[in-house]
Amino acid sequence: MYKDKKVVFSGVQPSGVLTLGNYLGAIKNFSAFSDEYKCYYCVVDEHAITVRQNPAELRRRTYETLALYIACGLDPEKNTLFVQSHVPAHAELCWILDCYTMFGELSRMTQFKDKSQKNADNVNAGLFTYPTLMVADILLYQTELVPIGADQKQHLELTRDVANRFNTVCGDTFVIPEPYIPTNTAKIMSLAEPAKKMSKSDENENAVVRILDSKDVIIKKFKRAVTDSGCEIARGEGKEGVSNLMTIYSAFTGKSDDEIVDEFNGKGYGDFKLAVGETCADALAHVREEFDRLVKDKAYLEDVMKKGAEDASRSAARTMSKVRRKIGFTELKG
Ligand code: TRP
Repeated sequence: MYKDKKVVFSGVQPSGVLTLGNYLGAIKNFSAFSDEYKCYYCVVDEHAITVRQNPAELRRRTYETLALYIACGLDPEKNTLFVQSHVPAHAELCWILDCYTMFGELSRMTQFKDKSQKNADNVNAGLFTYPTLMVADILLYQTELVPIGADQKQHLELTRDVANRFNTVCGDTFVIPEPYIPTNTAKIMSLAEPAKKMSKSDENENAVVRILDSKDVIIKKFKRAVTDSGCEIARGEGKEGVSNLMTIYSAFTGKSDDEIVDEFNGKGYGDFKLAVGETCADALAHVREEFDRLVKDKAYLEDVMKKGAEDASRSAARTMSKVRRKIGFTELKG
């Protein structure tokens, strides 16, 4: 019997300029899957509107995010790259799964608690049910593996719970997905406050490295990175800043902690920060050049979006038909 490839699905929001954290924690690892898995990478514009967006900017960022995926090495011939709102089944399955997701479960989501504090004037129902939309994204494609940053782990656990609940109540329908959280590089911390995650919405620009920052800007940000009052390049208590720089350096060079400690033995923080900055800037220069070229080619990006949406829709339709049957919706034939 012909066995389909297993499925990988992940999504990135078009809501802000992507950071080094998004790159090392997620996108950079995506291309590694495409030989072995059928991969869907989705620009989740429907998730983005849980907070107010400027329409022109949302549209522009949707193109940019797609261009960035491709610039980061995701070949549209080998991966299905698409925009969430182009496949209406996401919203449709979300509604159905809302009816299999408990109020209490959604109330416990830490990201909801954080975001509703940050957007206290707009705690809309979409913000609350956002995790169910993510559940729908994943289950729609019978996904086995979901590459995510550590901050999305709770949403993945919810996905598994909802899938199991649906399968128990309605009969086997969904594959139960596993998270894939790269161990070392999953969590890149702020350069200014290394106890905090690097966040694209940080108000302090020196805290975040953006994938599309210029070489000079990247190096300047690393030079200003907060370390500690000591002088040793090593991990340890109170050394979150240095540890974070080691994580970043290791992610780009493949070097182990011991190798990094040896390499900088006897050198100061200044040398280390400069080395990390240059390594990072050089690695990202190629991504930036590709991005600049692609983002000007709207016709090409639209072609990728169209093909991606067609491919994703075909696969989504198979799951939807199964779901409709299981819950007792009538279906029109022909
Ligand atoms: N919620 C994710 C984030 O904010 C983005 C996302 C939406 C996603 N749907 C997904 C990630 C499905 C993985 C799988 O980063």
